[in-house]
Amino acid sequence: MKVDVLLGLQWGDEGKGKIVDVLSPKYDVIARFQGGPNAGHSLEFNNKKYVLHSIPSGIFHKNSINVIGNGVVIDPVIFKKEIDGLEKECVDIKKKLLISKKAHLILPSHRVLDAASEAAKGKTKIGSTLKGIGPTYMDKTGRNGIRVGDIEYNLKDKYQKLYNKHRQILEQYDFQYDISEYEKLWFEGIELIKEFELIDSEYTIDQYLEENKKILAEGAQGTLLDIDFGTYPYVTSSNTVSAGACTGLGVSPKNIGEVYGIFKAYCTRVGSGPFFTEIFDETGKKLQKYGHEYGATTGRERRCGWLDLIALKYSVKINGVTQLIITKADVLSYFDKIKIGIAYKINDKISTKVPFDNQANIEVVYKEFKGWKTDVTKVRKYNDLPNELISFIKYIENEVGVPIKIISLGPDRAETIIRSSTYL
Ligand code: GDP
Ligand code: IMO
Ligand code: MG
Repeated sequence: MKVDVLLGLQWGDEGKGKIVDVLSPKYDVIARFQGGPNAGHSLEFNNKKYVLHSIPSGIFHKNSINVIGNGVVIDPVIFKKEIDGLEKECVDIKKKLLISKKAHLILPSHRVLDAASEAAKGKTKIGSTLKGIGPTYMDKTGRNGIRVGDIEYNLKDKYQKLYNKHRQILEQYDFQYDISEYEKLWFEGIELIKEFELIDSEYTIDQYLEENKKILAEGAQGTLLDIDFGTYPYVTSSNTVSAGACTGLGVSPKNIGEVYGIFKAYCTRVGSGPFFTEIFDETGKKLQKYGHEYGATTGRERRCGWLDLIALKYSVKINGVTQLIITKADVLSYFDKIKIGIAYKINDKISTKVPFDNQANIEVVYKEFKGWKTDVTKVRKYNDLPNELISFIKYIENEVGVPIKIISLGPDRAETIIRSSTYL
């Protein structure tokens, strides 16, 4: 058995939560490998919507084991809120969720540092979710962090030592804060974490593989937010790409199987940073309205634009995507004409590469498609899709060179076409 990986190919919010939930019955184990509560993964079934932040999207399935890997950062306050909310819906959650001892903890002061740093940046702010992600990963790589496995012994001392360090840094900012209330909740969250099985995911995952268990690694954010390959510095602070599944769970590259790359039929982005196919007129507003494009974590409006094929090819290449999943094609049903960005014109030269320079003066070359103008949310068979949508799908497949195996046509679990039974 191998570990399959599912990850976003754009700037996050591609529909990972929904698709992981759809695929979960085929897997024994669902494992998050990076990110933290900056993620907001939505799932819908039985007319109810759930949003998960730190917990893997397999949690609603009776038999699935869910793992929070070492690459993840955990805020005990948000974690407790999520568990409290889920306990009504998920039986035996404490038996079904395992947490790596090597996952790092987000302290209340990490959140303050995030907010202070963003405030100081002014116009050049990243547009962070303000969940303390950047500062926590900085302490991890700076070798100051506190890990889940550290909570058993002298946590208060370790906490105080790190908080003192943060206080010194915060003195450089003109930023008011009071964490006393949050700190209380934080230590309550720590007590809850102690009730879960704390693991060394590198051993646990190996053992699962030996037992022939099927494992799906669930990515957060998206490739264009990757710390190395995203639109730096407007990125998150972890490796969101498939390689992140190896370092974020302790899986060897030779044990990676399928890589599912998920993308929206158009593009969205929350927060600042380049977005070459962004639409600023009524069409963009229409995408936002019909796509309900509001951040699942922060409620912010998502910026909207056409699909960027150059960026999609880049993401497919970096991740070694073996199967594509397209979501939200139903949202395009409202449009007479649909566009795909197929090349960039940089200083009058045509390029099909994502440029190093985010500020580059880029004009996008588009290919136009006829819209299908039909409600597709009830379609369950590929061949029943309108011809225009099939042409759109075929074009992308041909250009990218990877088959689109799953087509999502609505937020509900049921609103999904799986093209081949051999997708596992
Ligand atoms: P994630 O972060 O990748 O899990 O994505 P989010 O949950 O943040 O955002 C995706 C949004 O689109 C959620 O509100 C989903 O319920 C919704 N969604 C997912 N797939 C589809 C789809 O195919 N069509 C429509 N209309 N909505 C979808
Ligand atoms: P999911 O998993 C969309 C964006 C933020 C900001 C940048 C850095 O739901 O796809 P951070 O808080 O990580 O320091 O923010 O990254 N961002 C996301 N955008 N979906 C997400 O996660 C995101 N997580 C972070 O908006 O621009
Ligand atoms: Mg999201």
